[in-house]
Amino acid sequence: MDAIRQRYLMCRPTYFAVDYAINPWMDPTTPVDTDLAVRQWERLRRTYLDLGHEVELIEPVPGLPDMVFAANGGTVIDGTAMAVQFRDPQRADEAPAYRAWFEAAGFTVADPKHVNEGEGDLLLAGDHLLAGTGFRTAHAAHARVQEVFGYPVVTLHLVDPRFYHLDTALTVLDERTVAYLPEAFSPGSRAVLRRLFPDAVHATMADAEVLGLNAVSDGRHVVLPVQAVDLAAKLRDRGYRTIGVDLSELRRAGGGPKCCTLRLRQGRADT
Ligand code: ARG
Repeated sequence: MDAIRQRYLMCRPTYFAVDYAINPWMDPTTPVDTDLAVRQWERLRRTYLDLGHEVELIEPVPGLPDMVFAANGGTVIDGTAMAVQFRDPQRADEAPAYRAWFEAAGFTVADPKHVNEGEGDLLLAGDHLLAGTGFRTAHAAHARVQEVFGYPVVTLHLVDPRFYHLDTALTVLDERTVAYLPEAFSPGSRAVLRRLFPDAVHATMADAEVLGLNAVSDGRHVVLPVQAVDLAAKLRDRGYRTIGVDLSELRRAGGGPKCCTLRLRQGRADT
């Protein structure tokens, strides 16, 4: 398995906090340790740099505590960035901040038109764009992303509120393989996943409950929460190299490594 050099966008959690609850992981009554969140995030960034990947940074905005979750800032495929539209008003102002970054970086920017939380719910797996719905990204957004990117979109219905974004329930490992938690999907969506990915890795509930599926793969190395021990063992059995990172403080907002990482795909050769 070959590693593909990646370009990522990340946002330092300078203003990270849990001030509101928009998913079941968030409890605004217990304070978070922002310095610890920053140290854990720095470690993640260092991990990518050590793997030879490129990391771009967007300036964090005060008052936007969830802006660290860059995966929700857009979807970038073949040099086009689809901007986002958040379901919740608390995150709404992140959308123009990310949009401005895409414009300044020279990407063609497309309007989302519907609730669309970026790579949190839209994951390119080979030639299919897997699209989650049920909690955040609207079903209507799926037709829009198919039109803009020209990849066949596969709608997947999420059914467990703890796994509210597709990237908390499914990880793309390479062009052909994914790992996922079957219980997080509707029966029909499970059947679709079995059909598309007969060799997929099935994660356990214990792995998913530590956000183990919120992982980032370059095709060879998989960066995942260090607590997801069973999943890491299964991935190693398949020949991947696993790198555990501890993002326990960011998990208190319902986020892991993938949430902190937006993949910037320039063109077809760099899928
Ligand atoms: N607190 C954030 C929210 O509920 C976490 C987002 C995590 N991002 C992700 N790509 N799953 O929106």
